[in-house]
Amino acid sequence: NLSATFQNHTFANPLMNASGVHCYTTTQLDELLASSAGTLVTKSATMAYRQGNPKPRYRSLALGSINSMGLPNEGLPYYLDYVLAKQTQADVPTLFLSVAGISMQEDLDMLAQVDQSDFNGFTELNLSCPNVPGKPQVAYDFEATEKMLDSAFKLFHKPLGVKLPPYFDLAQFDIVAKILNQYPLAYINTINSVGNGLYIDVDSETVAIKPKGGFGGLGGAYVLPTALANVHAFRQRLNDSIAIIGTGGVQTGADVFAHILAGADLVQVGTQLAKDGPDVFARLTQELSDVMAQKDYHNLSDFKNNLKEL
Ligand code: DHB
Repeated sequence: NLSATFQNHTFANPLMNASGVHCYTTTQLDELLASSAGTLVTKSATMAYRQGNPKPRYRSLALGSINSMGLPNEGLPYYLDYVLAKQTQADVPTLFLSVAGISMQEDLDMLAQVDQSDFNGFTELNLSCPNVPGKPQVAYDFEATEKMLDSAFKLFHKPLGVKLPPYFDLAQFDIVAKILNQYPLAYINTINSVGNGLYIDVDSETVAIKPKGGFGGLGGAYVLPTALANVHAFRQRLNDSIAIIGTGGVQTGADVFAHILAGADLVQVGTQLAKDGPDVFARLTQELSDVMAQKDYHNLSDFKNNLKEL
């Protein structure tokens, strides 16, 4: 039984797409709903349509991926209309709506719009887009993060999560968890891409993507240990009331198992979904079932957050 409970909601399994992959259009979102995924999250929206950065802006690599999309998206009304229409249909799970303003004011304006709508799912405030030239990631500025959350919770009354970038120092986990624990957050989603990597092709002596001279967010196998570290470090520090979505580096059912063992309640798939398409969820749910059966585990709760130390 792969069923996953998350803040009083139940999903058929813990798997979903990572925002930014296969979730730009209603066609792609419908394909996710038709897949074996437990639920979905929409592409991070700005208030209005954005074209994003020049192409090529995503490249699949032997060990993962690099991207600098630059927030191309159809605009908040497009994704809000989609989730509002779907949430009234039978057999549609609780949905996740991602917002990522270019400024704090844009974030607040979008949150106000979602708050005033009938949306009954989870809203994810993305504080970790590394790809808009000249705009540093909010979540690497701890003062700005606290200000953002102060303002957000003054006007937003629905379940809210935040998408975080990877942190690399235990002192950062302490500081960020202390900030997050002050708020009635439904969840955190960790990690976003490892920002501003640089892939170099030695044959052609070039970078792999066009924006920002080739610097872009890394995903896939490159980032799995960093993702697991962030899931586990936050699970050790956050209030029990704050759930965790583990994202980063999932290629197999064993990787999903590792995220849950580290403390994840749900697990997102980005790079591997981009490679394989939505059929990846049938494989991953089967592989997760197989790993659990081998270990004689019957439910996710039999091993969630049960990582052993040496
Ligand atoms: C984009 C990339 C991200 O990692 C993110 O969190 C939001 C947007 C992008 O480039 O579109």
